[in-house]
Amino acid sequence: MAYAEKDILEVLETQEALRERVAALGAQITADYAGKEPIIISVLRGSFIFMADLTRSIDLPCTVDFISVSSYGVGTSSSGQVKIVKDLSESIEGRDLIIVEDILDSGNTLDYLRNVLMARKPASIRICTLLDKPERREKDIQADYVGFNIPNAFVVGYGLDYAERYRNLPYIGILKPEVYGG
Ligand code: PRP
Repeated sequence: MAYAEKDILEVLETQEALRERVAALGAQITADYAGKEPIIISVLRGSFIFMADLTRSIDLPCTVDFISVSSYGVGTSSSGQVKIVKDLSESIEGRDLIIVEDILDSGNTLDYLRNVLMARKPASIRICTLLDKPERREKDIQADYVGFNIPNAFVVGYGLDYAERYRNLPYIGILKPEVYGG
């Protein structure tokens, strides 16, 4: 995407790397959930591209649903306060859930979501995140499936934004600090 090239410091994960890793995650989930019919839940908005690619690499009967949350974080990190903006459409009672996120950072979002969804009595919950920044964690939460562990840099693309821009980049890039005043 020519419009964004001047703003990107470095490409962290190329389109090819993303394709390979997402296919591997899909294959792993396919093996782990053999004989089951999981419900795959996309946490909007950042996970929409990962969700689209991941679900197409899962060779199982499955259903999809979407939930949108917002956090009251200031600037580039989330706070502990999260709320549901758009809830799931279906009941999850007795279902095997796979929550799909683009990035696991402080863990505040997934900690909140996991507790809310657990109260609805699913059979199981697992978390699949494309990106993980383990050193930023504030809550005791780990993903069951991780695409890439990444350093503590401001990343955009493949669904991830800065001020709602750059979600349509086909790769994951590190944003130049001067773009976000860093
Ligand atoms: C991002 C990301 C996760 C959350 C992770 O969402 O999609 O939901 O932050 O951060 P945490 O682990 O510190 O809670 P964001 O609030 O940027 O919204 P978006 O998905 O609409 O981009």
